[in-house]
Parts: sequence; structure tokens; C-alpha cells
Amino acid sequence: MVQINANYLKLKAGYLFPEIGRRVTAFSQANPQARIIRLGIGDVTEPLPSSITKAMHAAVDDMASRDSFKGYGPEQGYAFLREPIAQHDFQARGVDISADEIFISDGSKCDTGNILDIIGDGNKIAITDPVYPVYVDTNVMAGNTGAADASGRFEGLVYLPGNEANNFVPELPSEKVDLIYLCYPNNPTGTVATRETLQKWVDYARANNSLILFDAAYEAFISDPSIPHSIFEIEGAKDVAIEFRSFSKSIGFTGVRCALTVVPKQLMGTTPTGEKVSLHQLWNRRQSTKFNGASYVVQKGAAAAYTDEGKVEMRGLIDFYMTNARLLREGLTKVGIRVFGGVNAPYVWLKTPNNLGSWEFFDMLLNQAHVVGTPGSGFGAAGEGYFRLSAFNSRQNVEEALERIHKVLQ
Ligand code: MLT
Repeated sequence: MVQINANYLKLKAGYLFPEIGRRVTAFSQANPQARIIRLGIGDVTEPLPSSITKAMHAAVDDMASRDSFKGYGPEQGYAFLREPIAQHDFQARGVDISADEIFISDGSKCDTGNILDIIGDGNKIAITDPVYPVYVDTNVMAGNTGAADASGRFEGLVYLPGNEANNFVPELPSEKVDLIYLCYPNNPTGTVATRETLQKWVDYARANNSLILFDAAYEAFISDPSIPHSIFEIEGAKDVAIEFRSFSKSIGFTGVRCALTVVPKQLMGTTPTGEKVSLHQLWNRRQSTKFNGASYVVQKGAAAAYTDEGKVEMRGLIDFYMTNARLLREGLTKVGIRVFGGVNAPYVWLKTPNNLGSWEFFDMLLNQAHVVGTPGSGFGAAGEGYFRLSAFNSRQNVEEALERIHKVLQ
């Protein structure tokens, strides 16, 4: 019989969002009349902007003609997308990232997991807590941890707790770590890191020869001009960081799939015998072997987000969801709930009322308000007693969810 990867057996039974899905399905089977409003997983609801669908339709037409038909594309992505990204997302902010340091993919979730293919064994790995569960689970799968304890924390990982005292931006590790996962604007807490904070992390990484994996999937939702959109806005970051970005939330591509990973050419890792090796070259080798590129039609759609019309439409979509976030913040505050985030990120993180446990509050909202959120404890032990609401939904659903929550909490 084939030997399995026994590391999978260390994982908690289900990934957080499918687990929520199972509970919601069970509830709706038992209560078929209930109209459930889902503010759990951050999944977009609004249709794609028309500049993007027009570009995708035209790309489909390209595929229908011998002259413009496309087969395999470059594994790293088409220049027609990499170039505007380099120009608009980085160079326009004074960040020196070139198109060939950008790798187009089909998702940041995949890339933040797959990156471990080019990272060796024996690294000390730090993750913030609460945290996007993919960083932890993929390290468990890769054999980088021991077993989980009763609180769900895995042996071998260095957990950096975020809490109200540090505004959910954890302190630097007190020990030397090799690999650090940071996500800002943060999923799940919706908080942001200032330039000074990021500079401290970059300085730490430089002093300790660490690598920062910086997940900037929500950067498009930043409204405060003082908050950096990219780790590469920080001096010295090109020597110590990889950045992940996504089109999922900014242009509504959760179902279409397109993202990017920036691996600077100067970024180095080391072999066990101390030779320096380019991480850019390793990632290129990995992608060329295991990935055939995001589809031409999808990349054409993403490229349309950088046209004048696309930029205006993307802004409209982001403003729409951020108005939802504001309504959630204000509506919850009105009934005495303490809220965080939701200003530069589409997630509102809240302290559960009456010190309810995260899953207790989940069950209460589901059963009494027919509203689904995400229990904070699903993002790590430090998330216990907190809860996340996503701003990705229609205005009508957000308003109705708030009315129902008010009734429950009155
Ligand atoms: C979330 O709800 O945390 C996100 O939708 C997850 C993801 O982007 O994979």
C-alpha cells in the first residue's frame, strides 16, 4: 500500500472555511425557510467591471481565430500584464520592481503555499496569531512542524500574538527566526502596518538573514496615504522579502483566478553548505516545472484593470465594499461592540459580546440572526473571543445583517 504524507494527519480535521460551510449547510437543511446572509469567507459578490469583461470577451475572440489563437503562454505570465503591474503598482510609487521580477499565477493562496517548495528544512518559522490559516497548514503539510497542542498551536512554529494592546500588530520575535509570514492589510483583523513598523521588520530580517513572506492581497483597500501598499516601499526590503498580491478582491476575481508574486532578482537563500542561491531562479524553475501559467483570457481581463476605464471601475468596486465595511463598523459600534479594522481593509474584527467564545458567537448569530461570520479562534489561539465579518456582500444584505444582529444583541 502506498505511504501517505503523514503530516496531513496532524492537521485539524477541516480547513476553516469548508468547516463553516458544513455547519451552515447543516443549519439550512434543518431550517430551509431561513434566508442566510454570509459574511464569513471573504468572497466577492458584485459583478466584474465592464472594462474587464470586455477585455475577456475580446480575448475569447482571439482564441477563435487562427491568427490570434494562443496555446501555452509564458509560465511567468504575459508581458502585457506584468509590465503594467510593474509600472502602476510599483514604479508609480517609487518602487524599483521590474516586470521580470513579477510572476503571474492563479492565486495567492496557491502561491503562499507553493513557495514552501523552494524553502528547505530546518528553518525557524514565525507566524502572527491570529493568522490566515493557509500559512500554518501548508507548513504542517510540508513537515515543518510537530503536532498541535490543545489550543491548536503547532510545535516548532514561533507564534507572534496580536492583541488589543499591540493593535494586532505583533512585536518582533524575541529569538532569531529564518522565515516570517506577514499579511498587511491584515487578514483576519483588518489592521494595517505603518511604514515604521514595516521598517522594523525589514531591519530585523536584514540583521538576522531572515526571509519575509509578505502577503499584500488586500493592499488595494488601503485608503490612508501614509500606509505602504508594498513591503518594497521599505528601504532594504528587496534583499529580504517576497510579496504576494491578488486580483481576487480588488477586481472581483475570486472565481476567475489571477494573482502575482514578486521575487526580487537580488534575493538570496542559502544551501546547507552556505552557498548563496537566487530565490528568483528557484521560483522560476518551480513555476516552469509545476505551472503552465494563468490563462490568456484571464490575464487579458486583469490587464484591463490598468486602463483608465478599468482603474475607475476598480476604485468603484473597492469603494462599494469599503462602504459596507464602514456600515458594519458603525452599526456594531452603535450596539456596544468593540471593532477593529474595516478602515483600510475589507474585514471587520470584533470582540465578542459578553465574552462569548468565538464558536459560541458563531452559533448564536447563525441560529438567531441567520448571519454567518468567521470565528476568530479559527485563525489561531489568539483569535479566541473575537469574530470576523467580511464586507464582501451586497449593500442590502449588509444592512439587513446589521438589523438582525441588532435585534439579537438588544
Ligand atoms: C478569507 O475569507 O479569509 C479569504 O477569502 C480567504 C482567501 O482569500 O483564500
